[in-house]
Amino acid sequence: MSTSKATLSIDTGLETIIAAQTRLSDVDGQGGRLTICGYDVGVLAQGFAFEEALALVWEDCFGPNLRVEALKIELARLRKVAFENLPSFGQNLQSTELLRQALARCEDKSDLNSALYLVAMCGVATAALGRHARGLPPLAPNPHLAHCDDILAMMTGRRASQEEVKALNAYLVTVCDHGLNASTFTTRVVASTQAGLASAVIAGLSALKGPLHGGAPGPVLDMLDAIGEADQAEAWIEAAFERGDRLMGFGHRIYKVRDPRADALKQALARLPKNAGRLAFAEAIETTALKRLAARYPKRALETNVEYYTALLMEALDIPREIFTCMFACGRVIGWVAHAQEQVATGRIVRPQSLYVGPLSKDAA
Ligand code: CMC
Repeated sequence: MSTSKATLSIDTGLETIIAAQTRLSDVDGQGGRLTICGYDVGVLAQGFAFEEALALVWEDCFGPNLRVEALKIELARLRKVAFENLPSFGQNLQSTELLRQALARCEDKSDLNSALYLVAMCGVATAALGRHARGLPPLAPNPHLAHCDDILAMMTGRRASQEEVKALNAYLVTVCDHGLNASTFTTRVVASTQAGLASAVIAGLSALKGPLHGGAPGPVLDMLDAIGEADQAEAWIEAAFERGDRLMGFGHRIYKVRDPRADALKQALARLPKNAGRLAFAEAIETTALKRLAARYPKRALETNVEYYTALLMEALDIPREIFTCMFACGRVIGWVAHAQEQVATGRIVRPQSLYVGPLSKDAA
């Protein structure tokens, strides 16, 4: 039985709508807590290897007996297949658009291996895109390395230090899932049509690309560069407000307090050597930005979000700005896959209604 539109209310940003039931993650916007499959995000970020987080998040959709060592070996094998299947990257597209082309080479199947191949392709193509951004050819994966270690090695051509691997691992695990964010919702919508896993993940990536979602970290660094000196921050921020610009790395639809992921990443960043000066500068800008945001929007708590320290962490790892969003996708692909499978299991297509406000009777005129 369909519901009469007269009884429904419109919510264009869907913030009052609960559109899915999930066992994957809970975003507590009032308490500032993110729980992923029963673990606090800070615990996951510090204590789980990428492959362990993957096994945890995929437990429901691909069975409770996923063995981390076996996943590691299979992921390494699939990185090699992905490398052999990489498209050649053109010059005129953004990295996220090029990553979409690489993912388009994945088949629309929904078994564990096809899902792992999407993860492998994200890592291999992102590392290759990092080299592409610097005019360098791609480097082959190393089957003996874990996923994060290998992404850094493929991108830089050298073995990363333990601290660097830990930092990237902490980042990818921190962002592996986050409730019904725009890209995950998109993924679930596409999955609900039974289009297949690759199509759903490519759709998620397309949503992630925008600067209001996963495209924010590059602009965070652009902002820090443009501010230049801490004592210029206030004037720069006021001018940005006057232009109607948003401050990248601040504000969130769900969090009314500080995004817990910001602190998980700040801790990972602080453990990286040779970072102190940049971190102190970023903290000074953050303090001024929070003060100015509070003054401008006294009724709306606008706090630091995940993207602020993401940007600094990736910069410290010498990851080119052009591929920041692709790196985000390397972590979030874990959640996209699990949400897509969870949605398919409901057997229900996502199909909301719209309110027609156009002319009623043009044809009668
Ligand atoms: N800088 C300046 N003003 C802001 C900002 C900001 N970062 N964020 C929100 N506002 C303003 C917004 O323009 C609105 O003002 P007005 O009522 O005059 O139109 C007011 O604050 C309230 O906005 P809101 O309803 O809290 O914001 P939203 O839920 O529509 O948007 C957001 C959430 C994340 C898109 C927004 O905060 C934003 O654009 N932030 C900057 C981009 C960014 O950092 N994105 C990454 C988000 S975290 C990664 C993820 O999970 O996707």
